[in-house]
Amino acid sequence: MLPRTFALVLLLTAPLSAQLSQDIERRITGLIARMTLEEKLGQMSQSTAMQIPISASIKEEIRRGRWGSFLNAGGPADRAEAQRIAMEESRLHIPLVFGRDVIHGFRTVFPIPLGEAASWDPDLIGQATRTAAREATSEGIHWAFAPMLDIARDPRWGRISEGASEDPWLAAAIGTAVVHGFQGNSLAAPDSMAACAKHFAGYGAAEAGRDYNSTWIPESLLREVYLPPFLAAKEAGVASFMTAFNALNGVPSTGNAFLLRKILRDEWKFDGVVVSDYTAIEELIQHGFAADSADAARKALNAGVGMEMVSTDWFDHLPRLLRDGQVDMKTIDEAVRTILRLKFRLGLFDHRPQPVGEAQITAEAKETAKRLAAESIVLLKNGNGLLPLSRSISRVAVIGPLADSAMDQMGAWAMDGRPADVQSSLAALQQKLGPDHVLYVPALKNSRDTDHAGFAAAEDAARRADVVLLFLGEEQILSGEARSRAFLGLPGAQAELVQAVAKAGKPMVGIVFAGRPLTFHDTAAALGSVLYAWHPGTMGGPAIADLLFGDSVPSGKLPITFPRTVGQIPLYYAHLNTGRPPSLTDLGIPLGNPVNPTGYTSKYLDVDFTPEYPFGFGLSYADFAISNLRLSTSRLLPGQRLTVTADIENRSKIAADEVAQFYIHQRTATVSRPVRELRGFQRVHLGPGEKKTVTFSLTPSGLLLEGGPVDVWVAPDSATGVSARLLIDPRR
Ligand code: BGC
Repeated sequence: MLPRTFALVLLLTAPLSAQLSQDIERRITGLIARMTLEEKLGQMSQSTAMQIPISASIKEEIRRGRWGSFLNAGGPADRAEAQRIAMEESRLHIPLVFGRDVIHGFRTVFPIPLGEAASWDPDLIGQATRTAAREATSEGIHWAFAPMLDIARDPRWGRISEGASEDPWLAAAIGTAVVHGFQGNSLAAPDSMAACAKHFAGYGAAEAGRDYNSTWIPESLLREVYLPPFLAAKEAGVASFMTAFNALNGVPSTGNAFLLRKILRDEWKFDGVVVSDYTAIEELIQHGFAADSADAARKALNAGVGMEMVSTDWFDHLPRLLRDGQVDMKTIDEAVRTILRLKFRLGLFDHRPQPVGEAQITAEAKETAKRLAAESIVLLKNGNGLLPLSRSISRVAVIGPLADSAMDQMGAWAMDGRPADVQSSLAALQQKLGPDHVLYVPALKNSRDTDHAGFAAAEDAARRADVVLLFLGEEQILSGEARSRAFLGLPGAQAELVQAVAKAGKPMVGIVFAGRPLTFHDTAAALGSVLYAWHPGTMGGPAIADLLFGDSVPSGKLPITFPRTVGQIPLYYAHLNTGRPPSLTDLGIPLGNPVNPTGYTSKYLDVDFTPEYPFGFGLSYADFAISNLRLSTSRLLPGQRLTVTADIENRSKIAADEVAQFYIHQRTATVSRPVRELRGFQRVHLGPGEKKTVTFSLTPSGLLLEGGPVDVWVAPDSATGVSARLLIDPRR
């Protein structure tokens, strides 16, 4: 039920907004009637060509209405000037819309999106996104190319770092929060900006994890796994969608009418802008889908794209295609309408405030960044309760290439973050402990360095310290777009560095920076504790220092399955059971055995079939216990709602957060269901000894509407938890 005040606001505003949108549509119709074809095609064109300072030729083009939008272009002053020209000197005074990759923060950089997802805290992610919107809009940016909602189950793919997990439910919750964060209560507010759900669709399933590669996704899987986060973004009111680079089942997304017309427009009734990805229209030729630029222009337009990013096939070819009857004016007008609609909704026609200068980083923004970094970092191992460290430790050795690297702390897609704003782990530790208590030896120049020259100094520092902190992982340049990896181990000589430092015999803590799950089994075995920090952003250093010394408590949970080895990929928790599920004892064939004694089950002979760390996993300094699972009914009838409750108790003396996860498994169905599916989660704060009840609910429409037994779990991760069974009663 809606809270009363909210319901009242809705009642009062509904007719008003219907009136407003009718008014907008009328104004758009009037404008379209007055536009020349060139002006229409200009609106449908987005360019990067606006340099700093903005050139005379671009100014002239803006005056002529050649461009409707610029992306990743100019500085605040250039944008203000370009907008002034568009609104005062162009024939129809249509404003420009400035887009940018505001992916995980703007000037204040938050953890990479996969790291943000590890917080399982959509409210905080929404708050961080609002901060990014405030900063970006203050520099005259109106449109963020985020959230990226591509489900990915292959950590070789470099863009897994930009996504919100392997799981549609978690990604949908985060996508919704990000859309609200960018767009606020009103898109027209000066500190709101349009969000963009990308990349539509299936991009994250790139074959073999190689970026831009083809994807083959049956429609059932597309609708159950890959599309739900996009539908959630649409339901949250996202203002735009971006097409994907990949071909989906042989048809490039940028020319895919099934995706862009049938699903997005006809089924979902999306009325916003659909922008192509960067030169993706022209790339239809390389795909072998279009014969030439004109053919690419025609196919993309007819498939339902509304704005061309960077390539110029539409401006170059649509006039002739129109004359030849290969495209029609109605389709062009539809596209123009979506763009003008975005500009009206953003309040651009009503003179949004112009940028005044560079975005400033505030104390509040830093605090949000620190909190989100702390919540996103996952404690993977804590042997003998090594962490948290005691403040009475007299000396720590800080070793490794990533302890003091601002760029790597910010991660990929942080083009507006500034290294000078970053507080590194080294700086934060020096501040917390006093510089004399920190011995710093980077030992390797960067994560890929193979030179052992610095090892002796590292080992020496370790001998002189009480505890060794090893800052390992992969640099930001190794994840993100076009940065796929075939090997997922620690790059360079980092594994050897850990073995060398281990000779000092001191307790060792590993802090791993990465844009994806890495495989580092042997290194983890040598370390007492492991914190997985992703690329944690501007305030990652202080967040790490606090976690190490117990000033905050780890609460991040993996939003993605960590494989033991690349050979297990794709590996994800929501898999089907197979007809021959393996058991944990099945492994290997003893030397000389002529037959396979392990049974003919679905496994590997040379590695355990289970993951290194399961989806949802993350340790704490506190000790939580989940118990007393109760179901509102053990027989659920159609139309009924199931309520599931469980108690979570903090059995320790440390106040901390736990993320309770709600999973289901439908045991029998016409189409086999995954062994577990996430259907809810809740971050709960528990004081020492405190117990709270968490509640989740489910209606049969959340399952296939079939009868049969269903298992439910309330769990701390996808591999354990307390469970119960109920029956879905098919009687109607
Ligand atoms: C990426 C998009 C991005 C666009 C604009 C493309 O290469 O795939 O995600 O928004 O560039 O920078």
